[in-house]
Amino acid sequence: MPEALSTTLLNGELIATHEARISPFDRGFLFADAVYEVVPCSNGQPLRMDAHLARLAASLDALGLSNPYSTARWRELLCGLIEANGGGNLGVYLQVTRGTSIGRDFLPPPALEPTVFGFAWRLVPPTPEQLTRGLAGVTLEDIRWLRCDIKSTALLAAVMLRRQAAERGGGEAILVRDEHLAEGSSSAVFVVKNGLIATPPASCKRLPSITRQVVGDVLTALDLPLEEREIATNELTGMNEIWIASATREACAITRLDGRPVGDGCPGPVWHRVYREFQILKQRECGA
Ligand code: PDD
Repeated sequence: MPEALSTTLLNGELIATHEARISPFDRGFLFADAVYEVVPCSNGQPLRMDAHLARLAASLDALGLSNPYSTARWRELLCGLIEANGGGNLGVYLQVTRGTSIGRDFLPPPALEPTVFGFAWRLVPPTPEQLTRGLAGVTLEDIRWLRCDIKSTALLAAVMLRRQAAERGGGEAILVRDEHLAEGSSSAVFVVKNGLIATPPASCKRLPSITRQVVGDVLTALDLPLEEREIATNELTGMNEIWIASATREACAITRLDGRPVGDGCPGPVWHRVYREFQILKQRECGA
């Protein structure tokens, strides 16, 4: 499990992680009345920070929460947290809750002081063996709500689904709803069939993944077209390649799905190109 590094952000202050405290009456704790972001950081530099901050702003807006900081202040806090934890390759978590009111009411009192929390952990890149092996995926019915476009901390369904996938030997749950691919339990999904690459379009059934945008840019750089379309569940079994994409896993090949090989059971040729170009993009944007 990735362990939190020594310095944590709490309400605008950088403090020792083991000293971070919030009230049990925080609405984030009682209602998951909160949103979050996970920003990957390479060579001490956040990748696509502005896109992550824009998505955080959209999530806050969806909850009717005013953004506690300007983009410039968010950048400053995020970079301060990265630096205080030694830079390098990190995952950075940011969370904003509606705040604390002593009691419990579904209808939130107006104008609470939001709680802002952030921490970082070391992102360990996959070993060559892990990359060659790829991940096992398990298809499961999506039991989440219909505002999956909000990056909400109400992740119980995702936790249950990931546990179910793990019990079947899977490293990711590939979620389907109404006979169509939704997304991974914590990732976007891409498929390749006869050289054609596709991913489902933006919808309330899935998070607008930032890594999906990065992979889109990588595909453009490789001159490989990407189709956005709904993908039927029964198409998944015939795919040559399936990949998942997320801030913490970049683009990762799913080499087995429900115990059967995807393509020849190894990461495919398109994934290999995407993986290499992704590293070049990171180097260009983050300098390592
Ligand atoms: N989750 N879909 C879901 C449901 C996710 O939770 C995530 C990422 C993604 C990919 O989004 P992005 O490319 O912006 O990371 C898609 C993060 C990593 C998490 O909760 O830890």
